[in-house]
Amino acid sequence: MTTMTAEQAIDFYGLTEEQSLLRNTLREFADGEIAPRAAGFDEKAEFPWDNIKKMRELGLFGIAFPAEYGGAGLDTLSYAIAVEEISRACASTGITLAAHVSLGTWPIYRFGTEAQKKRYLPALCSGEKLAAFGLTEPEAGSDAGGTKTRAVKEGDQYLVNGRKIYITNGSVCGTAVFTAVTTPDNGVRGISSFIIEKGTPGFTAGSKERKLGHRASDTVELMFENVRLPADQLLGTEGEGFKQFMMTLDGGRISIGAMSLGIAQASLDAAIKYARERRQFGKAIAEFQAVQLLLAEMATELEAARLLVYQTARFKDRGGRFTRHAAMAKLKASTIAMKAASLAIQVHGGAGYMTDHPVERYFRDAKLMEIGEGTSQIQMLVIARELLREAAERPGF
Ligand code: CAA
Repeated sequence: MTTMTAEQAIDFYGLTEEQSLLRNTLREFADGEIAPRAAGFDEKAEFPWDNIKKMRELGLFGIAFPAEYGGAGLDTLSYAIAVEEISRACASTGITLAAHVSLGTWPIYRFGTEAQKKRYLPALCSGEKLAAFGLTEPEAGSDAGGTKTRAVKEGDQYLVNGRKIYITNGSVCGTAVFTAVTTPDNGVRGISSFIIEKGTPGFTAGSKERKLGHRASDTVELMFENVRLPADQLLGTEGEGFKQFMMTLDGGRISIGAMSLGIAQASLDAAIKYARERRQFGKAIAEFQAVQLLLAEMATELEAARLLVYQTARFKDRGGRFTRHAAMAKLKASTIAMKAASLAIQVHGGAGYMTDHPVERYFRDAKLMEIGEGTSQIQMLVIARELLREAAERPGF
């Protein structure tokens, strides 16, 4: 369900014809192929392989990478629209796509050597292999620089020991990127990043986490026990890993913004539908102003968040630093996703609390948006730091 035609979307969001066409095509695909099974995958906490197969056929896993590596060569806004539309139908499938593209594959494209790109990107762009991003550790959550995983250079290899937790796509991936300390006592400048392939001896995945939401997505621990990694699997140069991963998270935060839009839109659509159907006091509850106010609040905040996410996606492609705007887009969109899901349950009343309606799933899925890829509080911290940095760079300010 949508309240805007393709032409209106082009005018209002400033989409190109291609972006609008993509939006419509993926909306139809998501409604027809993804949405009907979302509740079932969620209930069984089953990884949605069928969705992955269908999305491979559409070329979604390589959507934002150049054709020379097997990608579709589309821009970041097109990618964000794809994540939004898939997440509107199934957030677990949306996060699988987002973690693959913006977290697991992008660092190889951005920081990899030509040889690494040729070796890894084609299978990642086709979706034959999924990608994961290993940053978080028991002592490195919000403090991403608190990495304890160690990579010790020994000849033309690194000996890696340590573990990563809460890793999306961790057990289903074919390739992962991860951080490890290569120079101890050098703070974040002692951290480097690496590419690792599934099947590397000593590299294993733990059992699947049991979660509040995004129950169908794959979240596991990754263990490194005396892993011997060829030195040519270092990504970029030693000591650059923390910065590379922070830059990766800037893009990832656009993805979380886009996922949040999808969840918020699904919540609004469900609330409108239910309000028009549900009758109390002799009429549809949509006729009551108390209900109308909730719909108006959800829709207004959703549009504001969408404009911020879309504009940040365009801003990224212009090539400058977009750290502040990505953090703002994620903060705003995740807040409205949580709020919209909560209000959608409110409109449904008792029915919304039951699993017969999808809004309780949207509510559970929305919560992660305020946590993953940096909590809302970390986003505020990033925004304030960037404001102060920008001010310091302006003479006489
Ligand atoms: N772009 C480029 N460089 C950056 C950068 C960015 N966005 N952010 C930081 N840096 C650079 C800084 O400029 C600095 O470099 P110099 O020393 O050369 O100036 C260096 O990196 C260190 O930066 P900080 O001093 O700001 O580092 P910090 O230790 O204070 O940490 C932080 C900053 C913002 C709190 C950061 O740790 C952070 O973002 N934490 C949240 C982590 C996070 O989002 N985790 C999510 C895990 S992934 C996930 O959730 C995925 C999933 O599966 C769902």
